[in-house]
Formats: sequence, structure tokens, C-alpha cells
Amino acid sequence: MAGSLRLRFLLAVTLWVILGIAAIWFSAVSIFSRHVEQSYHEELEVHVRELGRLTEIAPDGMIVLTRPLSDPRYDVPLSGFYWQVTADGRAPLRSPSMTRGSLEEDIAHSPEILHRLENGPTGPAITYGFTRKGAAGEDIHFVIATDQRELDRLIGSFTRDLTAWLAALAALLLATGFTIISFGLRPLDRLSLAFARLRHGETDKLEGDYPAEIAPLAADLNAYIHQNEAMVARARVQAGNLAHSLRTPLAIITDEAERLAKHGESRAAGMVLLDQASAMEQQIEYQLAQARASAGKPPSGRGVVLPDIAMPILRAMERLHPDKGFTLDANGCKGVVLPLDPVDFAEVLSILLDNAGKWSRSRVALSFTCDKTGACTIRIADDGPGIPADRIDQAFVVGTRFDREAAGSGLGLAIAQELCAAMGITLTLRNGTQGLVAELRHTAARPVET
Ligand SMILES: Nc1ncnc2c1ncn2[C@@H]1O[C@H](COP(=O)(O)OP(=O)(O)OP(=O)(O)O)[C@@H](O)[C@H]1O
Ligand SMILES: [Mg+2]
Repeated sequence: MAGSLRLRFLLAVTLWVILGIAAIWFSAVSIFSRHVEQSYHEELEVHVRELGRLTEIAPDGMIVLTRPLSDPRYDVPLSGFYWQVTADGRAPLRSPSMTRGSLEEDIAHSPEILHRLENGPTGPAITYGFTRKGAAGEDIHFVIATDQRELDRLIGSFTRDLTAWLAALAALLLATGFTIISFGLRPLDRLSLAFARLRHGETDKLEGDYPAEIAPLAADLNAYIHQNEAMVARARVQAGNLAHSLRTPLAIITDEAERLAKHGESRAAGMVLLDQASAMEQQIEYQLAQARASAGKPPSGRGVVLPDIAMPILRAMERLHPDKGFTLDANGCKGVVLPLDPVDFAEVLSILLDNAGKWSRSRVALSFTCDKTGACTIRIADDGPGIPADRIDQAFVVGTRFDREAAGSGLGLAIAQELCAAMGITLTLRNGTQGLVAELRHTAARPVET
């Protein structure tokens, strides 16, 4: 939740829509029920008055209506609409709808019109009644009743329609809400894409136009990136300059030390000086190599394309070590692009292939393995003597050379490890069945964009 702005907005909008729609539902249902109930009661009151007006006592003493009630539902058998007129000592008169049962006349003992819920012929009924004196002074009781379920049915059907309509409205509101959120957050998506391109080395700044709220952030970041780049470049140049300026004095010191080493009494001191001077020289060469590698770096475009990156290096190695056979196996990695700096990556590959070429007896095998997750392993195996297991870690230290006979300065592996760390890939050495195996592992490759 804390991690996603989009999720926060989605939850807020969902909650807002659900609460709003529920409030509308409750208030609409209760207002409607109140109104329907009120008009229902008014109607029943009108009907009971009409019943009173239409009732007469015939000359033969029977209770009669001068004409049927205006609402035809009182004539349909068991329709839920009933009336009844009773008078002391006379046969009661009932609506044609009341084919069975009778109505309770308790409610009809007052000249005022009263109402309450009673049991009718077909279930609970809203019952209205009043009493009036007949011509002969007898009490005539008028009762009219309508099933409660009629009212419930009206309210129920309204509630169903309303629920369906509000559900559709909620879906519509949610859909538009979600659309608005993704529209609103689009600039952030673009920003993160621009970031990805920057990190993959496809661009050297954040590109794109952003809305007023984000534009200053992008501009500040760009300024920061440029400032940083300039600082790093300056520091590298300075390190390079320093290393360079130390070279001449060091050459003089070395010269002097050699001279001292030739004389008997100063021989030991001369040797110490020579040793230290050579250690200093290695450090200087290392710093200069680093400065050179980063200074002339072109803005690297497309990342490392497998296996193309290895082709020119292999050709150079074949010229450098003509008596060794180099083989390439790139099965399953054709066209895979690793989001890495191709210049740095090529440098690492050259260092490892050159070592393998130098110490192999006859063959060097370069292979790429990629899996579905986009992870990729690059393996360089030779058939040379390898490195004693307990000294493998030492091989990465500047100036380490186990084999003093072969030419070299002991810088290759140190530089390779530094470059790998900067690129975010791992470099490991181990002794294989035949010779040394160097392994580069990259954990998240991008599939090639076509
Ligand atoms: N493939 C290999 N087989 C056997 N030993 C190796 C292999 N690669 C490196 N080594 C040992 O590790 C040492 C360090 O290697 P590194 O590449 O750092 O220096 P280098 O090759 O001696 O000199 P440079 O690469 O700077 O010219 C080597 O001197 C060698 O003894
Ligand atoms: Mg080397």
C-alpha cells in the first residue's frame, strides 16, 4: 500500500464511490418508502369515505351499495383489496373480492377514521374503519383493508430497480475513476521509463516533457546527473594526471636504485628501493589504465548485444595468440541485449580471453548461456594449469602474478573486477576439469526490442 501511489488512488476512489452510492441507495429507498406509504394511506382513507357515502339501508332492511366502489380491485376475488359493512342485527355486506374470511370490525367503533395493521383474509392488512349512525339510529361499521404485501411489493420493485441502476452507475464511476487515475499518473510512468533508459545507458539525461508538478524534479535530476558526471570525469583526469606526473620521478628513482644495487655495501638498500619502486609503478599503470578506459568512453548506445560483442575480440585474440584455438558457443543467446556498457564489457572480455590465451595449452572456449528469466552467464574456459585454489582470491589484487615468466603487469584481473562491480555483474574464477574457468553472471537481461 505504502509502495504504490496508483494503489492508494484506486483504493481511495473505490471507497469513495462505494460510500457515495450506498448513501444514495439508503436515502432514496427511505424517502421513496415514506412517500409511497403516505399516498397509500391517503388513498385508503378516500376509499373508506366513499364506502360510507355509497352505503344505504334498503327498505327491506338489507345493507346495499348504491353503486360499486370506483376502484375495480375490490371486485377481483382475493385481490388483497377488501371492504366490509356491518350493522347490528343485519346481514353484513362484503366486497366481491372477499370470497372467504371477514374483517375485524373493532377499528370501526368511532366516528373518526382510524387505522391499524390487522389480520385480513390474505395476510396482514392495513385496515381503515369508522362508524356512522343509520337512519334508524343503529351503528353502521365501515371497514376497508389492503394487504400489507401490496405496499411491500411496490417498495420492493422500486428497490430492485434502484439497486440495479446504482450498481451500473457505481461500475461506470469506478471505470472512469480508474481511467482518470492512470491518465493522471502517466507522466510518472514516462518518468520511470526515462529513468530506465538512463540507467541502461541509452540516454545521458532524463528525456521527455513533464507536467508543471514534475518538470522541476526532472530538471533538478538532470542538473544533478550532469554535475556528478563532470565531477567524476574531473576526478579521473586528476588521478590520471597525478599518475602521469609521478612517472618521471619514479623512473629517476628506479635508475638510482639500480645504480645502488650494483655496489656491494648499498646492494640491499638498492634492492628494497627497486621493489618498492616497481610496486609504485604497478599502481601508477593501474590508475592510468582506469583513467584511459573511462575518459574516452563514447556515450554507449544499445547495450551489449550477444554474441556480436565477442566477434572483434575473438579475432584480435586469434592474432595475439596464433597457436591457440578459440571457440564460441552462443546457443540460445542470439540477439539478447544486456543493459550494460559495451565498452566496459568488451574490456572485461578482452582481459579474460587474453589470460586464457596466455595460459592455455591449446584451446579456449567462450560460451554464453541465457535462461528465460533473462539471466545470462558468460564462461571462458581454458585448458591451462589453472590457479591453486587457495590463491584464486589473490589473483584479483593489483600486481599479482603467479607466473613470473609470462609477460604481464598483474593488472588485468584487478581492472576486470572493478569494471564488473561498476556494471553490477559478478566475476568468479574457479578451476575446471581442464584449466581455469572465468564466469561472468548477469541476472536480469532485457529481451531485444524489434
Ligand atoms: N587463465 C589463467 N590460467 C592460469 N593462471 C592465470 C589465468 N589467468 C590469470 N592467471 C594468473 O593470475 C595472474 C593475474 O592475472 P592478471 O590478468 O591480473 O595479470 P597478468 O595477466 O599477469 O597481467 P596483465 O593482464 O596486467 O597484462 C596472472 O599473472 C596468472 O598468474
Ligand atoms: Mg592478464
